[in-house]
Amino acid sequence: MASFIRRQVILTLFSAALVLCTAMAQLSPAFYASTCPSLPRIVRSTMAQAVNREPRMAASILRLFFHDCFVNGCDASILLDDTATFTGEKNAFPNGNSARGYEVRSSTPSNPTSKLLAKRPCTCADILALAARDGVALLGGPKWRVQLGRRDATTASQSDANSNLPGPSSSLANLISSFAAKGLSARDMTALSGAHTIGQARCTTFRSHIYSDVDVDPGFAALRQQNCPSAGGDDNLVPLDLQTPNRFDNEYYQNLVAKKGLLHSDQELFNNGTQDSLVRLYSVNARAFARDFAAAMVKMGAISPLTGTNGEIRLNCRKVN
Ligand code: HEM
Repeated sequence: MASFIRRQVILTLFSAALVLCTAMAQLSPAFYASTCPSLPRIVRSTMAQAVNREPRMAASILRLFFHDCFVNGCDASILLDDTATFTGEKNAFPNGNSARGYEVRSSTPSNPTSKLLAKRPCTCADILALAARDGVALLGGPKWRVQLGRRDATTASQSDANSNLPGPSSSLANLISSFAAKGLSARDMTALSGAHTIGQARCTTFRSHIYSDVDVDPGFAALRQQNCPSAGGDDNLVPLDLQTPNRFDNEYYQNLVAKKGLLHSDQELFNNGTQDSLVRLYSVNARAFARDFAAAMVKMGAISPLTGTNGEIRLNCRKVN
Protein backbone atom coordinates (compact mmCIF):
# COMPACT_ATOMS: atom_id res chain seq x y z
CA MET A 1 0.00 0.00 0.00
CA ALA A 2 2.76 2.41 1.05
CA SER A 3 4.69 1.80 -2.16
CA PHE A 4 1.49 2.26 -4.20
CA ILE A 5 0.90 5.63 -2.56
CA ARG A 6 4.55 6.57 -3.07
CA ARG A 7 4.29 5.61 -6.76
CA GLN A 8 1.12 7.70 -7.13
CA VAL A 9 2.82 10.67 -5.46
CA ILE A 10 5.87 10.34 -7.74
CA LEU A 11 3.64 10.05 -10.81
CA THR A 12 1.66 13.12 -9.76
CA LEU A 13 4.83 15.11 -9.13
CA PHE A 14 6.23 13.99 -12.47
CA SER A 15 3.16 14.97 -14.43
CA ALA A 16 2.98 18.33 -12.62
CA ALA A 17 6.64 18.93 -13.55
CA LEU A 18 5.93 17.92 -17.13
CA VAL A 19 3.00 20.32 -17.41
CA LEU A 20 5.16 23.07 -15.98
CA CYS A 21 8.12 22.28 -18.26
CA THR A 22 5.91 22.19 -21.35
CA ALA A 23 4.43 25.53 -20.39
CA MET A 24 7.89 27.00 -19.70
CA ALA A 25 9.14 25.75 -23.05
CA GLN A 26 6.48 27.80 -24.82
CA LEU A 27 7.15 30.98 -22.87
CA SER A 28 10.37 32.94 -23.27
CA PRO A 29 11.84 36.11 -21.75
CA ALA A 30 12.72 37.21 -25.30
CA PHE A 31 9.22 36.80 -26.70
CA TYR A 32 8.83 40.50 -27.59
CA ALA A 33 12.51 41.17 -28.34
CA SER A 34 11.89 41.93 -32.00
CA THR A 35 8.21 42.87 -32.01
CA CYS A 36 8.01 45.09 -28.96
CA PRO A 37 11.39 45.59 -27.31
CA SER A 38 10.23 48.62 -25.33
CA LEU A 39 7.50 46.72 -23.49
CA PRO A 40 9.48 46.04 -20.28
CA ARG A 41 10.54 49.68 -20.10
CA ILE A 42 6.98 50.96 -20.55
CA VAL A 43 5.63 48.66 -17.85
CA ARG A 44 8.48 49.55 -15.49
CA SER A 45 7.94 53.30 -15.82
CA THR A 46 4.14 52.96 -15.45
CA MET A 47 4.67 50.93 -12.29
CA ALA A 48 7.29 53.33 -10.97
CA GLN A 49 4.82 56.22 -11.26
CA ALA A 50 2.00 54.22 -9.68
CA VAL A 51 4.11 52.93 -6.78
CA ASN A 52 5.58 56.37 -6.23
CA ARG A 53 2.04 57.72 -5.87
CA GLU A 54 0.91 54.84 -3.69
CA PRO A 55 3.36 52.12 -2.57
CA ARG A 56 0.48 49.72 -1.86
CA MET A 57 -0.13 49.48 -5.61
CA ALA A 58 2.83 47.08 -5.87
CA ALA A 59 1.02 44.76 -3.46
CA SER A 60 -2.33 45.06 -5.20
CA ILE A 61 -0.85 44.21 -8.60
CA LEU A 62 1.11 41.27 -7.17
CA ARG A 63 -2.10 39.90 -5.68
CA LEU A 64 -3.97 40.41 -8.97
CA PHE A 65 -1.35 38.28 -10.72
CA PHE A 66 -1.73 35.51 -8.10
CA HIS A 67 -5.53 35.63 -8.38
CA ASP A 68 -5.26 35.52 -12.17
CA CYS A 69 -2.84 32.60 -12.32
CA PHE A 70 -4.72 30.43 -9.82
CA VAL A 71 -7.96 30.57 -11.81
CA ASN A 72 -7.45 28.64 -15.04
CA GLY A 73 -3.96 29.98 -15.58
CA CYS A 74 -2.24 33.33 -16.12
CA ASP A 75 -4.52 34.59 -18.87
CA ALA A 76 -5.72 37.99 -17.64
CA SER A 77 -9.23 36.60 -17.12
CA ILE A 78 -9.36 38.53 -13.82
CA LEU A 79 -9.28 41.82 -15.74
CA LEU A 80 -12.52 41.19 -17.65
CA ASP A 81 -15.45 43.34 -16.55
CA ASP A 82 -18.87 41.90 -15.84
CA THR A 83 -21.51 42.91 -18.38
CA ALA A 84 -25.21 42.16 -18.80
CA THR A 85 -24.26 39.01 -20.69
CA PHE A 86 -20.90 38.11 -19.19
CA THR A 87 -19.95 37.17 -15.62
CA GLY A 88 -16.25 37.57 -14.93
CA GLU A 89 -14.08 37.02 -11.86
CA LYS A 90 -13.94 40.55 -10.44
CA ASN A 91 -16.94 39.94 -8.21
CA ALA A 92 -16.00 36.47 -7.07
CA PHE A 93 -15.83 36.21 -3.29
CA PRO A 94 -12.01 36.56 -2.95
CA ASN A 95 -11.91 39.53 -5.38
CA GLY A 96 -15.05 41.61 -4.80
CA ASN A 97 -14.43 44.66 -2.60
CA SER A 98 -10.89 43.33 -2.19
CA ALA A 99 -8.73 42.94 -5.32
CA ARG A 100 -7.56 46.30 -6.64
CA GLY A 101 -5.07 47.83 -9.06
CA TYR A 102 -7.10 47.25 -12.22
CA GLU A 103 -6.68 50.90 -13.23
CA VAL A 104 -2.87 50.71 -13.43
CA ARG A 105 -3.23 47.91 -15.87
CA SER A 106 -5.51 49.98 -18.07
CA SER A 107 -3.04 52.86 -18.19
CA THR A 108 -0.31 50.70 -19.68
CA PRO A 109 -0.65 50.99 -23.45
CA SER A 110 -1.62 47.63 -24.87
CA ASN A 111 -3.64 48.42 -27.94
CA PRO A 112 -2.60 48.70 -31.56
CA THR A 113 -3.18 52.44 -31.69
CA SER A 114 -0.24 52.98 -29.35
CA LYS A 115 2.74 54.01 -31.45
CA LEU A 116 5.25 52.07 -29.43
CA LEU A 117 3.32 48.86 -29.62
CA ALA A 118 2.02 49.39 -33.13
CA LYS A 119 3.86 46.51 -34.72
CA ARG A 120 2.44 43.92 -32.42
CA PRO A 121 0.48 44.63 -29.26
CA CYS A 122 1.44 42.60 -26.25
CA THR A 123 -1.05 40.71 -24.16
CA CYS A 124 -2.68 41.86 -20.94
CA ALA A 125 -1.53 38.61 -19.31
CA ASP A 126 2.13 39.41 -20.05
CA ILE A 127 1.80 43.00 -18.87
CA LEU A 128 0.41 41.76 -15.56
CA ALA A 129 3.35 39.35 -15.17
CA LEU A 130 5.86 42.16 -15.82
CA ALA A 131 4.02 44.62 -13.57
CA ALA A 132 3.97 42.15 -10.66
CA ARG A 133 7.74 41.67 -10.95
CA ASP A 134 8.41 45.41 -11.23
CA GLY A 135 6.25 46.25 -8.21
CA VAL A 136 8.16 43.79 -6.03
CA ALA A 137 11.51 45.15 -7.26
CA LEU A 138 10.41 48.76 -6.67
CA LEU A 139 9.75 47.97 -3.00
CA GLY A 140 13.22 46.45 -2.62
CA GLY A 141 12.38 42.82 -3.38
CA PRO A 142 14.08 40.38 -5.73
CA LYS A 143 14.03 40.62 -9.52
CA TRP A 144 13.53 37.74 -11.91
CA ARG A 145 13.41 37.20 -15.65
CA VAL A 146 9.76 37.17 -16.65
CA GLN A 147 8.77 34.46 -19.10
CA LEU A 148 6.56 35.98 -21.82
CA GLY A 149 4.26 34.82 -24.59
CA ARG A 150 1.00 34.29 -22.70
CA ARG A 151 -2.21 35.00 -24.60
CA ASP A 152 -5.37 36.49 -23.15
CA ALA A 153 -8.45 34.49 -22.25
CA THR A 154 -11.77 35.04 -23.96
CA THR A 155 -13.58 33.52 -20.98
CA ALA A 156 -13.54 33.81 -17.20
CA SER A 157 -14.99 31.74 -14.38
CA GLN A 158 -16.46 33.24 -11.25
CA SER A 159 -17.11 29.81 -9.78
CA ASP A 160 -13.50 28.70 -10.32
CA ALA A 161 -12.32 31.94 -8.69
CA ASN A 162 -14.52 31.09 -5.72
CA SER A 163 -13.22 27.55 -5.41
CA ASN A 164 -9.55 27.71 -6.50
CA LEU A 165 -8.27 30.58 -4.36
CA PRO A 166 -7.37 29.66 -0.77
CA GLY A 167 -9.13 31.73 1.90
CA PRO A 168 -7.68 33.31 5.06
CA SER A 169 -9.17 30.64 7.32
CA SER A 170 -7.38 27.83 5.43
CA SER A 171 -5.48 25.20 7.38
CA LEU A 172 -1.91 24.29 6.48
CA ALA A 173 -3.19 21.11 4.80
CA ASN A 174 -5.65 23.16 2.68
CA LEU A 175 -2.92 25.61 1.70
CA ILE A 176 -0.55 22.84 0.65
CA SER A 177 -3.20 21.04 -1.36
CA SER A 178 -4.52 24.13 -3.12
CA PHE A 179 -0.99 25.01 -4.28
CA ALA A 180 -0.25 21.37 -5.19
CA ALA A 181 -3.34 21.45 -7.43
CA LYS A 182 -1.49 24.16 -9.43
CA GLY A 183 1.79 22.22 -9.59
CA LEU A 184 3.40 24.23 -6.78
CA SER A 185 5.18 22.61 -3.84
CA ALA A 186 4.75 23.34 -0.14
CA ARG A 187 8.07 25.19 -0.31
CA ASP A 188 6.75 27.35 -3.19
CA MET A 189 3.61 28.02 -1.14
CA THR A 190 5.58 29.12 1.91
CA ALA A 191 7.86 31.34 -0.17
CA LEU A 192 4.96 32.89 -2.13
CA SER A 193 3.09 33.63 1.09
CA GLY A 194 6.00 35.97 1.83
CA ALA A 195 4.17 38.33 -0.55
CA HIS A 196 2.31 39.31 2.62
CA THR A 197 5.40 41.30 3.56
CA ILE A 198 3.64 44.12 1.66
CA GLY A 199 0.08 45.36 1.40
CA GLN A 200 -2.97 45.48 3.60
CA ALA A 201 -5.86 43.34 4.75
CA ARG A 202 -9.42 44.12 5.84
CA CYS A 203 -10.61 43.42 9.35
CA THR A 204 -13.14 40.87 8.11
CA THR A 205 -10.28 38.65 6.87
CA PHE A 206 -8.40 38.44 10.19
CA ARG A 207 -11.02 39.13 12.90
CA SER A 208 -11.49 35.55 13.99
CA HIS A 209 -7.71 35.04 14.14
CA ILE A 210 -7.08 37.94 16.55
CA TYR A 211 -10.13 37.23 18.72
CA SER A 212 -10.37 33.45 18.79
CA ASP A 213 -7.10 31.74 17.80
CA VAL A 214 -4.63 30.70 20.48
CA ASP A 215 -1.47 30.84 18.34
CA VAL A 216 -1.34 34.67 18.51
CA ASP A 217 0.89 36.91 20.61
CA PRO A 218 -1.55 38.59 23.06
CA GLY A 219 0.03 42.05 22.69
CA PHE A 220 -0.23 41.80 18.91
CA ALA A 221 -3.87 40.65 19.11
CA ALA A 222 -4.70 43.62 21.38
CA LEU A 223 -2.96 46.04 19.00
CA ARG A 224 -4.86 44.78 15.98
CA GLN A 225 -8.16 44.71 17.89
CA GLN A 226 -7.85 48.50 18.18
CA ASN A 227 -8.50 48.75 14.41
CA CYS A 228 -10.74 45.73 14.13
CA PRO A 229 -13.66 45.59 16.57
CA SER A 230 -15.32 42.27 17.31
CA ALA A 231 -18.35 43.53 15.37
CA GLY A 232 -18.44 46.14 12.60
CA GLY A 233 -15.51 47.84 10.88
CA ASP A 234 -15.23 45.00 8.36
CA ASP A 235 -13.37 47.15 5.84
CA ASN A 236 -10.87 48.68 8.29
CA LEU A 237 -7.40 48.17 6.87
CA VAL A 238 -4.19 47.17 8.61
CA PRO A 239 -0.83 46.19 7.14
CA LEU A 240 -0.16 42.49 6.66
CA ASP A 241 3.41 43.07 7.84
CA LEU A 242 3.69 44.69 11.25
CA GLN A 243 6.51 47.18 10.69
CA THR A 244 7.56 47.49 7.05
CA PRO A 245 4.44 47.08 4.88
CA ASN A 246 5.97 49.09 2.04
CA ARG A 247 9.24 47.18 1.99
CA PHE A 248 9.60 43.77 0.37
CA ASP A 249 11.78 42.12 3.02
CA ASN A 250 11.73 38.95 5.15
CA GLU A 251 10.03 40.53 8.15
CA TYR A 252 6.83 38.59 7.44
CA TYR A 253 8.63 35.43 8.58
CA GLN A 254 10.04 37.13 11.68
CA ASN A 255 6.44 38.06 12.52
CA LEU A 256 5.34 34.44 12.13
CA VAL A 257 8.10 33.19 14.44
CA ALA A 258 6.92 35.79 17.00
CA LYS A 259 3.29 34.65 16.51
CA LYS A 260 2.41 37.96 14.91
CA GLY A 261 1.01 36.69 11.62
CA LEU A 262 -2.09 38.69 10.68
CA LEU A 263 -4.17 36.04 8.92
CA HIS A 264 -4.99 32.63 10.34
CA SER A 265 -3.54 31.18 7.11
CA ASP A 266 -0.29 33.12 7.65
CA GLN A 267 0.23 31.75 11.15
CA GLU A 268 -0.56 28.23 9.92
CA LEU A 269 2.89 28.27 8.29
CA PHE A 270 4.46 28.42 11.74
CA ASN A 271 2.30 26.48 14.13
CA ASN A 272 4.19 23.27 14.91
CA GLY A 273 3.81 22.03 11.34
CA THR A 274 5.92 20.94 8.38
CA GLN A 275 6.77 24.49 7.29
CA ASP A 276 8.19 25.67 10.64
CA SER A 277 11.82 25.05 9.72
CA LEU A 278 11.50 26.83 6.38
CA VAL A 279 9.82 29.81 8.05
CA ARG A 280 12.70 29.93 10.55
CA LEU A 281 15.20 29.81 7.69
CA TYR A 282 13.51 32.67 5.80
CA SER A 283 13.23 34.69 9.02
CA VAL A 284 17.01 34.77 9.41
CA ASN A 285 18.12 34.45 5.79
CA ALA A 286 16.64 37.16 3.57
CA ARG A 287 18.63 35.91 0.57
CA ALA A 288 17.18 32.41 0.79
CA PHE A 289 13.69 33.92 0.86
CA ALA A 290 14.41 36.27 -2.07
CA ARG A 291 15.84 33.40 -4.15
CA ASP A 292 12.94 31.01 -3.44
CA PHE A 293 10.30 33.72 -3.90
CA ALA A 294 11.68 34.68 -7.32
CA ALA A 295 11.84 31.04 -8.45
CA ALA A 296 8.31 30.37 -7.22
CA MET A 297 6.98 33.47 -9.02
CA VAL A 298 8.38 32.14 -12.31
CA LYS A 299 6.67 28.79 -11.63
CA MET A 300 3.39 30.47 -10.69
CA GLY A 301 3.59 32.60 -13.84
CA ALA A 302 3.77 29.43 -15.92
CA ILE A 303 0.48 27.95 -14.71
CA SER A 304 -1.53 26.85 -17.77
CA PRO A 305 -0.76 29.75 -20.09
CA LEU A 306 -2.63 30.10 -23.35
CA THR A 307 0.03 30.14 -26.09
CA GLY A 308 0.35 30.06 -29.87
CA THR A 309 -2.99 30.83 -31.46
CA ASN A 310 -5.07 30.02 -28.38
CA GLY A 311 -6.93 32.89 -26.75
CA GLU A 312 -6.33 36.35 -28.19
CA ILE A 313 -4.36 39.57 -27.83
CA ARG A 314 -7.01 41.63 -26.09
CA LEU A 315 -7.18 45.19 -27.39
CA ASN A 316 -8.82 46.41 -24.20
CA CYS A 317 -7.87 44.39 -21.14
CA ARG A 318 -11.35 44.82 -19.67
CA LYS A 319 -13.28 43.10 -22.45
CA VAL A 320 -12.87 40.39 -25.02
CA ASN A 321 -12.26 41.63 -28.58
C1 HEM B 1 -1.34 31.13 0.77
C2 HEM B 1 -2.59 31.49 0.58
C3 HEM B 1 -3.06 32.91 0.61
C4 HEM B 1 -4.13 33.38 1.29
C5 HEM B 1 -5.09 32.58 2.13
C6 HEM B 1 -4.19 34.80 1.05
C7 HEM B 1 -5.16 35.64 1.56
C8 HEM B 1 -5.11 37.02 1.48
C9 HEM B 1 -6.07 37.89 2.11
C10 HEM B 1 -7.31 37.45 2.87
C11 HEM B 1 -5.68 39.16 1.86
C12 HEM B 1 -6.39 40.44 2.32
C13 HEM B 1 -7.50 40.74 1.33
C14 HEM B 1 -8.47 41.80 1.81
O1 HEM B 1 -8.44 42.20 2.96
O2 HEM B 1 -9.28 42.28 0.99
C15 HEM B 1 -4.48 39.10 1.08
C16 HEM B 1 -3.76 40.19 0.65
C17 HEM B 1 -2.66 40.09 -0.15
N1 HEM B 1 -2.15 38.94 -0.71
FE1 HEM B 1 -2.60 37.07 -0.20
N2 HEM B 1 -3.15 35.17 0.24
C18 HEM B 1 -2.43 34.04 -0.07
C19 HEM B 1 -1.34 33.96 -0.90
C20 HEM B 1 -0.82 35.02 -1.60
C21 HEM B 1 0.14 34.92 -2.67
C22 HEM B 1 0.68 33.61 -3.22
C23 HEM B 1 0.40 36.18 -3.07
C24 HEM B 1 1.31 36.65 -4.18
C25 HEM B 1 2.35 35.97 -4.62
C26 HEM B 1 -0.37 37.07 -2.24
C27 HEM B 1 -0.31 38.44 -2.27
C28 HEM B 1 -1.07 39.27 -1.47
C29 HEM B 1 -0.83 40.69 -1.36
C30 HEM B 1 0.34 41.43 -1.97
C31 HEM B 1 -1.85 41.21 -0.56
C32 HEM B 1 -2.09 42.69 -0.20
C33 HEM B 1 -2.90 43.31 -1.35
C34 HEM B 1 -3.20 44.78 -1.20
O3 HEM B 1 -2.75 45.43 -0.28
O4 HEM B 1 -3.94 45.28 -2.08
N3 HEM B 1 -1.13 36.33 -1.39
N4 HEM B 1 -4.17 37.77 0.87
